[in-house]
Amino acid sequence: ALTIFVLYSDTHSSLLSAGPVSVDVPVSRLGQPSLTQWSAVLERRLPNLTGPRALSVSLSSPASASIGVYTLQLRVEAHLNVKTHSLGQITLLCNPWCQSECCLCVHTQLNDLRTEYVRSDIGLLFKGSPGNMVSRPWSFDQFEKGILDICMKLLQLSPQHQTDMRKDLQNRSDPVYIGRVISAMVNSNDDKGVLMGNWSGDYSGGVNPSQWSGSADILKKWAESQFRPVKYGQCWVFAAVMCTVMRALGIPTRVITNFNSAHDTDGNMVIEEYYNEMGKKLSMSKDSIWNFHVWVESWMKRPDLGQGYEGWQVLDATPQEKSAGMFRCGPAAVKAIYQQKVEAQYDVPFVYAEVNADVRTIIIKDKKVLSTSIDKKRVGALIATKRPGSMLMQDITSEYKTEKGKRKSDCPDRHQTSRIHANAGHHGIEVSLQLLKAPVVGENISFNVIITNNMAAPKLLKKHVNAQNKEYNRNPTGTFWEAHDDVKIAPNETLTIKHEIPFNAYMLKEAVEDYMVNLAVVIEDVESQERVLASEEFNIRSPTLSVQIQNEFSVVINTPQVATVTFTNLFNVAVSGELTVSGSGLLEEKAQMTCVKSDILVFKALF
Ligand SMILES: *[C@@H]1O[C@H](CO)[C@@H](O)[C@H](O)[C@H]1NC(C)=O
Ligand SMILES: *[C@@H]1O[C@H](CO)[C@@H](O)[C@H](O)[C@H]1NC(C)=O
Ligand SMILES: *[C@@H]1O[C@H](CO)[C@@H](O)[C@H](O)[C@H]1NC(C)=O
Ligand SMILES: *[C@@H]1O[C@H](CO)[C@@H](O)[C@H](O)[C@H]1NC(C)=O
Ligand SMILES: *[C@@H]1O[C@H](CO)[C@@H](O)[C@H](O)[C@H]1NC(C)=O
Repeated sequence: ALTIFVLYSDTHSSLLSAGPVSVDVPVSRLGQPSLTQWSAVLERRLPNLTGPRALSVSLSSPASASIGVYTLQLRVEAHLNVKTHSLGQITLLCNPWCQSECCLCVHTQLNDLRTEYVRSDIGLLFKGSPGNMVSRPWSFDQFEKGILDICMKLLQLSPQHQTDMRKDLQNRSDPVYIGRVISAMVNSNDDKGVLMGNWSGDYSGGVNPSQWSGSADILKKWAESQFRPVKYGQCWVFAAVMCTVMRALGIPTRVITNFNSAHDTDGNMVIEEYYNEMGKKLSMSKDSIWNFHVWVESWMKRPDLGQGYEGWQVLDATPQEKSAGMFRCGPAAVKAIYQQKVEAQYDVPFVYAEVNADVRTIIIKDKKVLSTSIDKKRVGALIATKRPGSMLMQDITSEYKTEKGKRKSDCPDRHQTSRIHANAGHHGIEVSLQLLKAPVVGENISFNVIITNNMAAPKLLKKHVNAQNKEYNRNPTGTFWEAHDDVKIAPNETLTIKHEIPFNAYMLKEAVEDYMVNLAVVIEDVESQERVLASEEFNIRSPTLSVQIQNEFSVVINTPQVATVTFTNLFNVAVSGELTVSGSGLLEEKAQMTCVKSDILVFKALF
């Protein structure tokens, strides 16, 4: 009799005490592999008369098996003689192609999208602002050498595994459970997780989050340093690494960007913003709106929630708030967010607020409230992901919220101008801001202030325009440009006043990837002292690099290939920088070169 002994053991020390997490699988001579339990069937093969006598046995795992590292042993029983042979280890993953994989595959809908959401090792991350979106390529690297073992290590080092190994191993058949463990382990808060967040602008002792371009560097660095946190991550880095780990484990996953993402700390679904009477935004609120926030969605069934919640689930690895005692978030069913089913675990109210909160804008002077207004459309203005099979953006806002809440009418053309947040005053003065062109580094920022007097009387107004810089997840800092003047407006008149912020007013010493501007205008009616405000936040796009591969459609393996990288310097001064070239599966090492003033670089590599 032959028996294969399957030991489910993620650490060698547990081999001896594995007990119930091991299975005896008798090898049968006839029969079919089972879908519901471990089975082993002797394969029929013609004997090889010249070689050593060999038996082939195929071993099948059930769809309900837990993922992880298994040790295999073969036990041969002949009469009274029992011999055990070690057969080595296997790593078992989720199988999104298996129709009976109970918690994962809702196969008809997911269909061929698995090519993108499991197999694709490159992607695009969206940043910037809805009117001036920036897409950034990312190497997920889930198939790079060593990455799968590191992902297994991540499961083994989780607090769940460390506190109760047996329970953790048993629960690892459930993608809902796995997603929650990974969401906590990708950040290093409260465990031995992968990435340390830092939004301070000072990234000494680590890597500036904007400089990462793929997940393998981060995961390898974590493993090489004996699992000390890698410095530093920000939201898109946390999300991209989480996407890598989930795809490596076989769980279909995509990276999502929510533009104008609310971080509602007090759970009242309203984000307060304070301005002074001169149009300067004040740092007075604990709540904040991130210009963009990045998380992932993974595809799974939700038997724990009953019918109707299978499909995409939000998982967020960025440490924002604790969920049941740890920095993690989700899985929250996108369908539950859409239906505002706040009781459907996990963390639906938090994600719901991120895409739906209202913004209350308050103008204050000497602690006295001068005016308030509410904006119901700004938050969650656009929810975006990469379109499968292409390098374009897919708008998935309507999966999270009804069309009514969508900001369609405000943004007729996201790439040209954006008409912003208009505000009707109590006494019939309206103001809005209009960017004339998506801002690009090196150019002036041109915009119109549009004021309408709806009243039958002429008005004398004071106009205060204020521009502050900010980072994507924080309140603005100092004012770098302002304009104050008096405006006379006739009854029923609409005035359009053009302004230009010159490049040298916002120029920085160093390029900052997520450089944002908060622009606000306050109009004061001199007679009634009423005030109205309009504001707009936007990013300034950096000059882009373009890459052209010579003879793109006739690349031959193991022959050098020429790629041309072009950078157009938009500044009127010379710039210098460093070019980093990487390619998953193509280049073993990253290539780095310093470039000074040169506009065209030719790069040769062995593909
Ligand atoms: C039979 O075994 C020999 C020696 O191991 C090997 O070289 C040969 O390829 C095998 N033939 C078949 C058909 O597997
Ligand atoms: C593990 O699974 C058990 C039984 O399915 C469940 O009761 C328990 O809550 C799970 N543990 C965690 C941490 O999810
Ligand atoms: C970010 O990194 C800098 C430089 O090492 C450090 O001084 C700062 O305390 C870090 N900030 C946080 C929030 O960890
Ligand atoms: C302003 O417009 C309103 C309605 O559009 C009109 O009734 C009123 O006569 C106009 N007033 C002036 C001074 O033009
Ligand atoms: C940019 O603005 C400055 C100051 O308003 C102006 O002198 C300059 O001509 C502008 N440049 C362009 C290219 O419009």
